[in-house]
Amino acid sequence: MIRKAVLAVAPLLLLAVFSGCAKKKPVLAVPTVNDYSYADLASVAVKHMELELDIDFSRRVFAGTATFDLDHRAQATTVHFDTWALNILDVTVDGKEAHWALGDSVELLGRPLSVAITPSSKQVSIRYETSPDARGVQWLEPAQTAGKKEPYVYTQSQAIHARSWVPCQDTPANRFTYNARVHVSNGLLVLMSAANPRERSADGTYTFAMPDPLPSYLLALAAGDIEYRSTGARTGVYSEPSVVDAAAFEFSDLERMMEAAEALYGPYRWSQYDVLVLPPSFPYGGMENPRLTFATPTLLAGDRSLVSVICHELAHSWSGNLVTNATWNDFWLNEGFTTYFERRMGEALYGREFSEMQTFLGIRDLESEFEEKGADNKDTALYVDLAGRDPDEVPQMTPYEKGYLFLRLLEESFGRETFDGFLRRYFDAHAFQTMTTEKFVTYLKTELFAGNEARWNELMMEQWIYAPGLPSNSPRPVSARFDAIDAQIKRFAGGARAAMLKTQGWTVPEWERFIDNLPAPLSAAAIEDLEKTFRFSEKNAYIQRAWYQQVIASNYQPLYPSIEVFLHSIGRGYLLRPVYVKLAETPDGLAFARKVYAGARPGYHAVTRSRIDLALKWDEVAN
Ligand code: BES
Ligand code: ZN
Repeated sequence: MIRKAVLAVAPLLLLAVFSGCAKKKPVLAVPTVNDYSYADLASVAVKHMELELDIDFSRRVFAGTATFDLDHRAQATTVHFDTWALNILDVTVDGKEAHWALGDSVELLGRPLSVAITPSSKQVSIRYETSPDARGVQWLEPAQTAGKKEPYVYTQSQAIHARSWVPCQDTPANRFTYNARVHVSNGLLVLMSAANPRERSADGTYTFAMPDPLPSYLLALAAGDIEYRSTGARTGVYSEPSVVDAAAFEFSDLERMMEAAEALYGPYRWSQYDVLVLPPSFPYGGMENPRLTFATPTLLAGDRSLVSVICHELAHSWSGNLVTNATWNDFWLNEGFTTYFERRMGEALYGREFSEMQTFLGIRDLESEFEEKGADNKDTALYVDLAGRDPDEVPQMTPYEKGYLFLRLLEESFGRETFDGFLRRYFDAHAFQTMTTEKFVTYLKTELFAGNEARWNELMMEQWIYAPGLPSNSPRPVSARFDAIDAQIKRFAGGARAAMLKTQGWTVPEWERFIDNLPAPLSAAAIEDLEKTFRFSEKNAYIQRAWYQQVIASNYQPLYPSIEVFLHSIGRGYLLRPVYVKLAETPDGLAFARKVYAGARPGYHAVTRSRIDLALKWDEVAN
């Protein structure tokens, strides 16, 4: 629950008042919450930020100054910023000491920082330090990196964590440009969601420019023992030295992806596109930080079969980064469009079979979410009402996969050519702007449906967007390759030994299909046959995720030590959560899960911890 914020005056200010040095202080307006943010964009919005930061690995803090240019939209006398566990040291307005106050801390939101201004104030400058447990920052020990020698730090700002490392108007409804100067004293390379260096700087100081306005959730920074490999004129990869060549191999199609994307929906507007492959604790598959996608090393399958995640993050350069969800309730506008775009890019590059397999696996994940939540759960609508809940904890698959199916329905109904033209115009017309579901519905009705109400109703558009579950006219994928896999499953179920199955050339998605659809529970003999023949417990994390769910469903104890190793080795919620959830289905499994989790939890990122805490009811154990 979000409590109503009460404004408290910072102790320092009280001191100033009592020591008699201050003249009468202006009264600060009380901040109100709007979509997780205290910013009042109708009165004043920031347009540009100059950031100076020092990265202090020994204290695990960033210390510095954020200076914002103001855009006045009303006669405002207060500007409010979001902060989360920030230590605010000093605030100036146009170079002069300012009157400011920090409000009470509210769960999820943090504390509003209110600063007195006049309608002619131009700049607010905030000197601050982060806290070692900033939610949006993960500090890694050398042991948590590939190289094991240097520490590492990276940020994850989406959805509402930018405020834990930069005081800002932390809402997707506003955009600003930024420049940054970042200093690190231990010789590491620093990168941001901006124009990036490719070499170490001799004095540890790096400068960054992001001339294209972005919402706060796309602010990003990483520092580590990182090297660069170019993969083409506008693309490249960054990673630790022992990983960077594997990354360059896996993502060698980056340049072609760019070309395919541009051929579909128009020019790439962010100049450069690089991918930073992070250490294994990175909590997501990918994060679309502009110019520099952050990605999990679990994508390095060696056979390039998991590049659809990179297609996804690149697609966000249009859907999300260019046309941005105005609120987190409109999140499906970011992720549904991106999933659609990702599959179209995948189809253009690797063929229809490739993208159809992705769609099948997406529907698998969607169905398991519906099962978990109940298909009548309101969170299974495209437009959701988060109503103060943690945006990191609401259902994950619906905005992606139901959103994808919604757009595919439109494509199939209007024809690809018409629909592509519509999407391209949509991105052009709203580039560097924000979008609400309501605004999109209006645009869709006029631009694609041309006012045809009957057709709108016939396609059940309102139901798709505002009602839970999957409407009856949902498109159905077709995959001959998955059909062939199902045939092999039949043979195995009918008694054929694993070694007799035709598995040559199967890629990761095909193995997932195979493992998912094996008849559960499997006998110990069947598990042993499969493990001995295919060595699933030594394969890519996607395969292990599928395999261990089967192993747990069959309560095959000899592989539990491998499960434990797996749960310790990565930090991506999508891969970990189903395994923990499966374990939690039985009392013994839950006990095992909690035991492993106690050891693994400190190495997980805060957002992964929140999600697994819920799945294992960790508060019952911890208190
Ligand atoms: N923007 C998301 C990640 C995200 C969402 C972070 C919400 C924080 C809050 C990113 O683009 C994404 O969707 N990642 C997916 C990959 C994808 C292929 C489905 C992931 O990490 O699983
Ligand atoms: Zn996404």
